[in-house]
Amino acid sequence: MLKRPRRNRKSKAIRNLIKETFVSPEDLILPLFLKEGKNIKEPISALPDSFVLSLDEALKVVKKALNLGVSGVLLFPQIEFQLKDPMASESWNEDGLLQRGIREIKNAFPDVLIFSDVAMDPYSSDGHDGILKKGKICNDETLEILARMALSQARAGVDFIAPSDMMDGRVHFLRKALDEEGFTEVGILSYSAKYASSLYGPFREILKSDPKILKETLQKKKSIGEKKNALNQSLKDKKTYQMDPSNQREALREGILDQEEGADILMVKPALFYLDVIYALKRETTLPIAAYLVSGEEAMIYAASKKGLLDSNAVLMEAITAIKRAGADMILTYSALKIAKEIHNESSTIT
Ligand code: PBG
Repeated sequence: MLKRPRRNRKSKAIRNLIKETFVSPEDLILPLFLKEGKNIKEPISALPDSFVLSLDEALKVVKKALNLGVSGVLLFPQIEFQLKDPMASESWNEDGLLQRGIREIKNAFPDVLIFSDVAMDPYSSDGHDGILKKGKICNDETLEILARMALSQARAGVDFIAPSDMMDGRVHFLRKALDEEGFTEVGILSYSAKYASSLYGPFREILKSDPKILKETLQKKKSIGEKKNALNQSLKDKKTYQMDPSNQREALREGILDQEEGADILMVKPALFYLDVIYALKRETTLPIAAYLVSGEEAMIYAASKKGLLDSNAVLMEAITAIKRAGADMILTYSALKIAKEIHNESSTIT
């Protein structure tokens, strides 16, 4: 037999030499959920290694991340019901939970790279990423809110804002707003290809931001009036702004637009179900590509592992490797610390 591919797999040493894709802790960004209070570390049932954290506890996690070589965090605030309103006004509160979080983390660890999500949903009583009026999302009015939010995050010291709202023209609008206030060094990681996926369930449960159930919850709590609500026909999904999972070419269009509008990094989200999109976008742009392994994707792995059907550590490593192989330069994952530990363990056992 002339050709025997197995020769290149016969030992760990040769397998290492022919290895094409390397994942390192430096490739990972850890999303963190923040909550008011002290000494709070609330477990998240869908994501066994993640917690909703008060700021003091979040600082400990950031320290752990840096020690493991994970130097980026993405922050999300869990906003109390009484602070949610139709204009998401809490989102630009200079002293809001997220803004304080950015300041405190930056203060304690100047080297950590802080990313912050820009979208209305954690703060909106409609659970939407944009302003909802008569059952419709108002694109251009939303841009003004996003700019206020982004500026308050920049003033707090964020390194990159990450608009996840999918409104048209937002990257240009936010770039201009940042530059006009002198924040030329604050970057934009744009959620360019964000799909209207069914895999965001655990995330929405954590932030209590699901448009389908938020309105009922708030009505029960009587924090929004009946009249206002009658005018404001609800919109139960995000399909008028997030993308149809059927489309790949539309993702390229969004990516090219964001590049032209001044984005620094383009993101595809979710990641594992959209490897073809990562692969295609990589060929279309010279910008770095980020991919987000979303809550539902990780929850499936953990749920199967809990049933004894698979080994979550091994599957997570395989997932991250696949996302990188498809073309992602960086990966956002709730399991960043677990994966970083796994990588450190593997590299210390060469034989
Ligand atoms: C906010 C936002 C969402 C996620 C990240 N940013 C939810 C959504 O669009 O409804 C989902 C992340 C995850 O599921 O892990 N716009």
